[in-house]
Amino acid sequence: MCGIIGYVGKKDKTQSVLMDGLTNLEYRGYDSAGIAYFDSQNIEILKQKGKVHTLSSLIEKPISTCCGIGHTRWATHGKPTILNAHPHQHGKFALVHNGIIENADVLKTKLSEEGYQFYSDTDTEVAVALLDCFYQRNHDILLSIYELMKRLEGSYAFAILCEDDPDSIYIAKNESPLIVGVGNLEMYVASDVPAILQETSKYIIIEDMEYGKVEKDGVHIYNMEQEEVSKEILTFEGTMDSAKKNGYAHFMLKEMMEEPDVLKNLFQSYWKDPDAWKKNLPDFEKYREIDIVACGSAYHAGMIGKCYLENYLGIPVAVSLASEYRYQSIFSRQDKLVILVSQSGETADTLACLKLVQDYGMDTLAIVNVVGSSIARIADYVLYTNAGYEIAVATTKAYIAQVASFLLIALAFSKTHLELEDVKNLYVVQKQFLEKHYSEIVNQLSDASRIFFIGRQVDYAIAMEASLKLKEISYLMSDAYAAGELKHGTISLIQEGTPVIAVVTDPNIAEKTISNIKEVKARGAYVILIISSQLDESFDWCDQKIVIPKVSTLLMPLATILPLQMLAYDIALAKGCDIDQPRNLAKSVTVE
Ligand code: F6R
Repeated sequence: MCGIIGYVGKKDKTQSVLMDGLTNLEYRGYDSAGIAYFDSQNIEILKQKGKVHTLSSLIEKPISTCCGIGHTRWATHGKPTILNAHPHQHGKFALVHNGIIENADVLKTKLSEEGYQFYSDTDTEVAVALLDCFYQRNHDILLSIYELMKRLEGSYAFAILCEDDPDSIYIAKNESPLIVGVGNLEMYVASDVPAILQETSKYIIIEDMEYGKVEKDGVHIYNMEQEEVSKEILTFEGTMDSAKKNGYAHFMLKEMMEEPDVLKNLFQSYWKDPDAWKKNLPDFEKYREIDIVACGSAYHAGMIGKCYLENYLGIPVAVSLASEYRYQSIFSRQDKLVILVSQSGETADTLACLKLVQDYGMDTLAIVNVVGSSIARIADYVLYTNAGYEIAVATTKAYIAQVASFLLIALAFSKTHLELEDVKNLYVVQKQFLEKHYSEIVNQLSDASRIFFIGRQVDYAIAMEASLKLKEISYLMSDAYAAGELKHGTISLIQEGTPVIAVVTDPNIAEKTISNIKEVKARGAYVILIISSQLDESFDWCDQKIVIPKVSTLLMPLATILPLQMLAYDIALAKGCDIDQPRNLAKSVTVE
């Protein structure tokens, strides 16, 4: 959350690098944006509420400077206002921040007693004031940053300008991602590599509790022993191609359209050589228990993963939300594997769980999309989902690749078999769904005050994902329930016309779910049935029906979610919502 960019190098490039970088980083937060740069020795700051393009309108004449920093914000402390927007400034420093300073209130009180006056509600302003306070005493920028890090609690990635050194950007990091891009007599600072990929693919990863100075011809990074650490220059293998809309109205639509090929590629990489495919994975035979830990859609993928792993590997699996898991009792076992699922590989809670279970000595496997992300780097084993760069805040292709990754693990480590024909058939079914629009259902749901999704087992996991997709991009209040659970309270909310979307694809429990659907129908619900063709009988009593054509049971979740993603998209479109950047959200959730 929050995007950071910095550039030191050529005078005529700073403005474009900062503005392009902020645009690329906008998916990390988009409630306000700002830049700071040197105008001769002085720091100039421009900030604006709203998206990055609103900031551009403040730039009246081209900025000519060798050094600058920028920020796009996802508010944690204080409303999205110009005053709360970054960069923040005290004394000779301007600073941008991604993270949360947990002891900001205590520090603010102390600094106020020393005479500091605060203009914003942010924790970030406290950090820059404290930095200034140290600098006033020791007149040494790096030493002041070191002192600052010793006093701060919480997470931060900082990019800092100081008027006493107009040719450098200073940086510090703990728990929030930060990289330095390496160019030819120019350097970049960013929250992630794709933000600067159009400039350079060479980069250095800054680790937790490291700080340093970035100049156009070199980088000096230090640890908390104040020793300089040598850093490896890495090369990013990805391209920016997948970061373009390619004519689609929205990234979400484009990313849904890519789903059949994402899966095709994943299955092909497995089929080419299953032994090679599983070579870098842990040996599942040695585990007696598995914990799957993730947030949001990745958690929903984990719920389906549980079904695959339990049914085909016969290992008991517990699925947990990372934000809960990190504070619950951890039952450490040497024969337990913990699987962390994350598209970004930077989600703060998931990352914290990874570090936690590693401290207990348990094996960890990360199922991650972003190559080289923190979770991928730290976990003992990594399975990349290879879905390509995902820009829309609402995940679609990365989610489906997570589900497929669990299926591939089940195939690789059990005797379960899948025919190539089945995968080809799935491809066709998915393509067909991506062409279909359900205008009657869209009309029916667009004005609903609340919508229920129900299902059992895998269908319940799909219902949860479908409900999340709908609410996050269309702002419709919806919730998902295990179908058998309704009569324990929720059914009291069903009235004449209440929309209930029921998912029924699992033949083992279809009858049970159908009974639950009849219960809500009897109470006036408007029932939209999502049913597999094998189970489709004469359900004339349903108000609407979407039939999932015949696909192998193993692949069923990968087909069922598509019409539901499309439905969410079409409803959000009909309501005129900002589909790629929904209200209050950000793509990479790097704060707790
Ligand atoms: C919803 C969505 C989120 C993410 C969640 C975890 O569409 O994208 O719920 O799934 O924030 O993010 P990652 O997978 O990056 O850890």
